[in-house]
Amino acid sequence: MAELQNIKWSELGFSYIKTDLRYISIWEDGKWDDGKLVEDNKLHISEASTGLHYGQQCFEGLKAYRTKDGKIQLFRPDQNAKRMQQSCDRIRMAAPSVEKFIDACRQVVKANESWVPPYGSGATLYIRPFVFGCGDTIGVKPAPRYIFSVFCMPVGPYFKGGMTPVNFATTGFDRAAPSGTGQAKVGGNYAASLMPHEEAAEKGFADCIYLDPSTHTKIEEVGAANFFGITKDNKFITPSSPSILPSITKYSLLHVAKEYMKMETEESDVLIDNLEIFKEAGACGTAAVITPIGGVQHNDKFHIFHSETEVGPVTQELYETLVGIQLGDVEAPEGWIVEV
Ligand code: PLP
Ligand code: COI
Repeated sequence: MAELQNIKWSELGFSYIKTDLRYISIWEDGKWDDGKLVEDNKLHISEASTGLHYGQQCFEGLKAYRTKDGKIQLFRPDQNAKRMQQSCDRIRMAAPSVEKFIDACRQVVKANESWVPPYGSGATLYIRPFVFGCGDTIGVKPAPRYIFSVFCMPVGPYFKGGMTPVNFATTGFDRAAPSGTGQAKVGGNYAASLMPHEEAAEKGFADCIYLDPSTHTKIEEVGAANFFGITKDNKFITPSSPSILPSITKYSLLHVAKEYMKMETEESDVLIDNLEIFKEAGACGTAAVITPIGGVQHNDKFHIFHSETEVGPVTQELYETLVGIQLGDVEAPEGWIVEV
């Protein structure tokens, strides 16, 4: 095992840290080059890159985990690779194959092994793959050249406190249109989220909750995470909508709830005016992991789920099982874990 960086791992938040090496590959004339690891964290690109002007850009987020015996593993990287292909397709970009994507992630993690937080520290290595259009283009059309790059950094909790409940507020803004790009992990959705996030933060909430863009009556997403609720009769419910990012964590939790915890599960509408059906609720995602939702402010009503300070028992068990699988402590379903 490589000697680890001298970092206070348990004090890490979710911030950029420049690690040693990153991967970069270029697509031109219909094909990707072999890709390489580089030290430089700056990109030199044309001022007329479509990624800069027309939002022809997408990204992914996944993590590497250090197991109890010091090994390093990725959680469902094939799912991120496939989602990146769908995002690229939606905005007409060349996409790396699943094999190229996983190989790039493994190379980057291996090359930055000393930055992979130790088991039990609560920190993990966040991996950020991205693709964008570059080259000289001024018309609104797909670029002649694409860069696929992957970098990584150690991170702690995305929402302050990690597994402690936080409060959210609904917003009147939409992050995506009903038949727009909500399903794709494209930068434009995140640009649209900056103002509503800031508004929620100014009022003391961790982030905003987006409602469905057609009717504003159903929960869509919780900031940069999906929503789940546990009904009073112990059903795991998560919204279904074409403008939601299909969260890999959410689909993993649907499996964990059904197969490991023998719960009933359902992807269905979650009405913002009917939160009383839930005894617990949470936000889930790679960065958010599971963040318990204390309460939700909607117009002049504040709804508290389990508690504003205590984690509910079902949310706790979901968390322990999911994180147990990611850290190698709980047996994973076939194909979920890829060793580095
Ligand atoms: N929703 C949005 C808008 C996100 O940015 C993310 C983060 O990736 C998620 C949900 C959670 O998705 P995943 O679990 O695949 O990380
Ligand atoms: C993730 O969970 O990977 C995200 O993309 C969330 C956010 C950092 C954009």
